Amino acid sequence: MTRASFRFPDGFHWGAATSAYQIEGSPLADGAGPSIWQRFTHTPGMTANGDTGDIACDHYRRYKGDVQLMKALGLHGYRFSINWARVLPEGPGRVNPKGLDFYSRLVDELLENGIVPHATLFHWDLPAALDDRGGWLNRDSAHWFAEYAQVMFKALDDRVPRWGTLNEPWVVTDGGYLHGALAPGHRSKYEAPIAAHNLMRASGAGIQAYRAHGKHEIGVVFNIEPKYPHSDSAEDLAATRRAHAYMNEQFADPALLGSYPPELQEIFGDAWPDFPDDDFKLTKQEVDFVGINYYTRAVVKQQADAYPLQAVPVGQPNKTYTETGWEVFEQGLTDTLIWFKQRYGDIPLYITENGSAFYDPPVAENGELDDPLRTSYLRKHLKALHRAIEAGVNLKGYYAWSLMDNLEWSLGFAKRFGLYHVDFATQQRTPKATAKLYARVIESNGAVLDD
Ligand code: BGC
Repeated sequence: MTRASFRFPDGFHWGAATSAYQIEGSPLADGAGPSIWQRFTHTPGMTANGDTGDIACDHYRRYKGDVQLMKALGLHGYRFSINWARVLPEGPGRVNPKGLDFYSRLVDELLENGIVPHATLFHWDLPAALDDRGGWLNRDSAHWFAEYAQVMFKALDDRVPRWGTLNEPWVVTDGGYLHGALAPGHRSKYEAPIAAHNLMRASGAGIQAYRAHGKHEIGVVFNIEPKYPHSDSAEDLAATRRAHAYMNEQFADPALLGSYPPELQEIFGDAWPDFPDDDFKLTKQEVDFVGINYYTRAVVKQQADAYPLQAVPVGQPNKTYTETGWEVFEQGLTDTLIWFKQRYGDIPLYITENGSAFYDPPVAENGELDDPLRTSYLRKHLKALHRAIEAGVNLKGYYAWSLMDNLEWSLGFAKRFGLYHVDFATQQRTPKATAKLYARVIESNGAVLDD
């Protein structure tokens, strides 16, 4: 038998991902405290259509059915996040056993169905009680996070073999502290580097706690968006370097190299703090893996009045763009993985998110939903991933974003990334054509991509 060219290595881990606030609903149930996302979505004008996570996919109550959706796809693993404020409603101190119990039941349900749980400790929903104490601007946040992490490790590490500290700290600080489009909605170039630094101190403190209490694997997840210059002018090349340092190195460097790239000082000027050297002993910890979330690239040009990078993305003619305005550019995934290995060494990697929002037609009478643009996106990106493996990248697995349509943060429910379509009026889930392709990819370990 000839070997299919897109077959993935034996043991390759196929999964799908979600996050707590985007799917769970019942945000204040069973003694949970509010998170900053609860507050943000309930502040008029902050989300499209006034959408909130009050119900979302009602996963908090329907999790057993959702595990069956995963099983129907043949998923090996499921990456979900824990809502910190369910577990520690007042920030530090009192543990809420009912909040903890939800995640314990979810993990048991996954294991009973042969699905490996991958738990993320922080996917943006900081307890509001901690935001009231300054949130990520407070240096104590590293201790708060380590305390929370410890509670979770003690409760679940016997059953959860793979943990992530933070999901996409860049988005937290760029959206939450620099531009204000995401919770907690601040707009300050003075705050953003401080929040970023404390996030990486917290991640480091969480990993240290894991070494004391955990027995399996822990890592951290970065969103990487490769930057390509619009022209080879010195200005555009410098702008591209700044954009790349800001988005792709600002978090991975302190975590994996114990330093910051020099461009950050250039970008932030007087807002760039003089961080104590000792902090880097905390930020730089040995990780068992790194998760990379990849969606798109940016082509960059210099623009003097663009705050604060003096760089802007340039639209590309004759390219497909998703509903979130992102160019479909699969070569960027291969390039990203190769770059990551070159800069940070041969760390085991997972693609912890990859996917696309496209307009979906209503479910047809025969129960089918054809989503050709998303299907094509998945095919192209899996092939690009395979090319990275052939180039020697140590890639262990892939999690599609997302298991099902959900609350796309401030963009509301209109942007649909799901493998499963969700009718938010009835909570009916329907597999899209992409879900069916993905099930065949998993079953054939990629060989179906040869067709
Ligand atoms: C986040 C997800 C989000 C997705 C699509 C990532 O930045 O981790 O929560 O829904 O991208 O925007």
